[in-house]
Amino acid sequence: MSLPQSVRIVEVGPRDGLQGEKPQSVANRVKLVELLADAGLRHIEAGSFVAPGRVPAMADSDKVFAELQRNSEIVYAALTPNRRGVEGALAANVDEVAIFTAASETFCQKNINCSIAESLDRFTPVLDAAKAAGVRVRGYVSCVMGCPYEGNIEPQKVATLTRELLDRGCFEVSLGDTIGLGTPVQAKQLFEKITAVAPMEQLAAHFHNTRGQAIANLYALLEEGLGVIDSAISGLGGCPYAPGASGNVATEDVVYLLNGLGIEHGISQDGLLQATRFVTEELGLPCRSAAGLAALAQANE
Ligand code: HMG
Ligand code: MG
Repeated sequence: MSLPQSVRIVEVGPRDGLQGEKPQSVANRVKLVELLADAGLRHIEAGSFVAPGRVPAMADSDKVFAELQRNSEIVYAALTPNRRGVEGALAANVDEVAIFTAASETFCQKNINCSIAESLDRFTPVLDAAKAAGVRVRGYVSCVMGCPYEGNIEPQKVATLTRELLDRGCFEVSLGDTIGLGTPVQAKQLFEKITAVAPMEQLAAHFHNTRGQAIANLYALLEEGLGVIDSAISGLGGCPYAPGASGNVATEDVVYLLNGLGIEHGISQDGLLQATRFVTEELGLPCRSAAGLAALAQANE
């Protein structure tokens, strides 16, 4: 067992968390990002440059980036599925872009309206434009532990796609358990296959907590040296094209776990509490984090 000394948390609440909800005002989206920054998060996905007709809650992501009071130590990232997306993101001066595909053909079609092979072609101009602008590109693979349409997904398929994204220029690949199907031994076996072709240092876990397994799965992978975890404040989240998907693993729960394991992360629990409060009181969204609910209850005592 080799737990890492520190973990980087990638906060996806303002993107994955809000994308399936009714649209929030630009001011509220900006405030959420700023509260997360104040809490110590240093890598925040703040929006998406996708078709607004497909994901209305992510429309006006350019305005979110324009209005943010930025901290130069923070990476503010955005999803960019195609040439148009990366052009919008670069014009909005994002620090990092993310391309996203899937290990399931059906999910890929439903989500981004193309095959897996076509998605890789569409990423070429994204990678080229980002490289020319000196902006890093993160890769996502969805459905790594199962698909809402196809069921089982072959781990080797995930490993091959991960290697492909790294070879094409992604600095890191985030592995999405999009509808939270995985369990700990499965997660270990999947990462064993992936780390045969890609170093653990270039992998992130992006686990939805639909069936309550995300923290257990993360712990299993921390034992293998996982160093990057995607999470969303209050456990918000879910892809509009993944029926049955519910929230991402909650940032509050991940921080509680890491504190218990003595793993550094740089995030303040008090700061997170302010963000949890904002989600419930100002955005009107439920807190799906057990640690977040406990902190709210304690603060109200
Ligand atoms: P398309 O469906 O192939 O169609 O788009 P298109 O290219 O013909 O474009 C359709 C319309 O969108 C056109 O407008 C385009 O101009 C416009 P119209 O002529 O109808 O008025 N358009 C755009 N507008 C703004 N920005 C753009 C853009 N591109 C086209 N970049 C596309 C392909 C991918 C854009 C579309 O299918 C789409 O936006 N899909 C939504 C994808 C999405 O955001 N899904 C959720 C995020 S992924 C996720 O949550 C999983 C993840 O969290 C990991 C995990 O959990 O597993 C990352
Ligand atoms: Mg997701």
